[in-house]
Amino acid sequence: MSTAAVFAMYSSPFKSIVVLFSGGEFVRSRKANSKRLPRGAAALTAARFSASTTIEEEEEKEEQMKDLKFDQKGIVSDAGVYKTKEEKMFLQNAIQLKGGKNALILGIETSCDDTACAIVTKSGFVVSEAIKSQVSIHENWGGVVPTLAKEAHQNAIDDVVEECLRKAGVTDIGKQVSAVAVTVGPGLSMCLRVGVRKAQKISGEYGIPIVPVHHMEAHCLVARVKEEEWNSSREEEEEEENGVAKFPFVALLVSGGHNVLLKVEGVGRYTILGQTLDDAIGEAYDKTARLLGLPVGGGGGPALEKLAKEYEEIVLEPRREQARKEIEQEAHITDEVFEKIVRKKVKNPIRFTVPLRKRKTCDFSFAGLKTNVRLAIEKHLGAVVDESKPEQKVLPSENWDGIENRETRAAIAHAFQTAAVTHLEDRVSRALEWVESDGVSPTCLVVAGGVASNQKIRKSLLQIGSNHSIDVVFPKPSWCTDNGVMVAWAGIERLNLALGVEKPVPRNSEAFRKDEKDRDVQVRLKPRWPLGEMDERAIGEVKSSKVSKMARPLGSSD
Ligand code: KG4
Ligand code: ZN
Repeated sequence: MSTAAVFAMYSSPFKSIVVLFSGGEFVRSRKANSKRLPRGAAALTAARFSASTTIEEEEEKEEQMKDLKFDQKGIVSDAGVYKTKEEKMFLQNAIQLKGGKNALILGIETSCDDTACAIVTKSGFVVSEAIKSQVSIHENWGGVVPTLAKEAHQNAIDDVVEECLRKAGVTDIGKQVSAVAVTVGPGLSMCLRVGVRKAQKISGEYGIPIVPVHHMEAHCLVARVKEEEWNSSREEEEEEENGVAKFPFVALLVSGGHNVLLKVEGVGRYTILGQTLDDAIGEAYDKTARLLGLPVGGGGGPALEKLAKEYEEIVLEPRREQARKEIEQEAHITDEVFEKIVRKKVKNPIRFTVPLRKRKTCDFSFAGLKTNVRLAIEKHLGAVVDESKPEQKVLPSENWDGIENRETRAAIAHAFQTAAVTHLEDRVSRALEWVESDGVSPTCLVVAGGVASNQKIRKSLLQIGSNHSIDVVFPKPSWCTDNGVMVAWAGIERLNLALGVEKPVPRNSEAFRKDEKDRDVQVRLKPRWPLGEMDERAIGEVKSSKVSKMARPLGSSD
């Protein structure tokens, strides 16, 4: 809190609260009754109002809050957030007085190529979502082009937020929304900035706090969001335990940009068990799909998975069926052993080495696999791959239906997927062993990120979970990829623990009068920001270009 006084006003149909801070000193808190509004059409609004309390109750709550202890773990570790007891009171008031567990939090995500927004209740129900994808903008470039992404975020952000508010029936942000959560990293800084500026604008204009969110933490924690539909009668129900995934758990995040295994012991308590030393798995799927001339709009993963499946079903399975007829099953051989014999006899002639098998860690690597794909294309299809032209379609997709080469391409896709999935299985099994050997009993394995929608990967990870007698939780596909819900929810988890919340900067303050380029004063962008400390067994070295300008890990003391 700077020495300048900050004035903020919160009001609801029952009351208005005025809190004045000056140089970190709590000056005054005043309450006044106001008229009850009729129940509006929006269930949301109705729920919010009915969650309000009497003045006496509020006074009592306020007294209790004054006695809060300030030595809790987490507040200290995210230093600089609550500098005074009064600041904490102020922020907790902001939430408690706006509907308790039905308080609404707005989440904004712009770290890469999706402009996304959502409104989630403090108790974990999703009220509304809106998203604008940039797939069509980047698909011809072979990757996300930062300048185009930034421009697209700028064009979309107001509409996406507007749509989300409208769907939720929010007509007055100041009265109905308790806080705004926004991704501040990791991600493309010019893209992150678009979301952060929007969040700051809302925060300053309506006097609501901002919760800066770590993108990967959001991916992890979304596994704790309830998937049932929200409705206003929820307010009558007993407070339920939030979500599906309970702490502690192991999380595998697999997407085009992330590939990490985490021990998750609580909000802000993450240990990186392993991460990719080069490419993320989604990136490898995309590159392989492109090399094979597959459609890559929105990521090549789905097309590659389809082709690998085709090889399994159209090529391998009929051959296995034939082998089953040819090989006589001797009486003493079990069905399981017989199937193994069949599978050994009928194999994809193209096979790639599973990465890092000799390295007994949880690190990942997909660069070698990509090279193997390139070599196989050159060997079996006679195509020359120029890696300096990533957008080049080596095998033009126009030939796709011409069947020629199709089986070989499918065999390469199948070989790639087999090695990639086995690599994931190896690392996840080891991660679970490590965590168990630490004396931590994970409740489940959470698998998130765009690649988690791959059926082959799901099936094999379900098996790994079953081998370790734990559940495997896959958040629903639209919450696996980048989305606003995960950001709003991560904000709520942080608000619940009073971790890392920033007070609003009023629009007429110095910060807002400054030039455009100086406006990032309230919330610092962290384009490179590790989610936690590395496990000491994780000895992998990440490509140097990926570690420069790193922010301190989330959860470490500043
Ligand atoms: O999480 P996401 O939407 O965006 C980020 O990268 O942050 O993930 C997109 C990635 C792409 O690389 C895409 O090819 C991959 O997820 N993906 C898949 C599948 N669906 C999407 N990879 C393999 N199999 C799939 N079915
Ligand atoms: Zn992501």
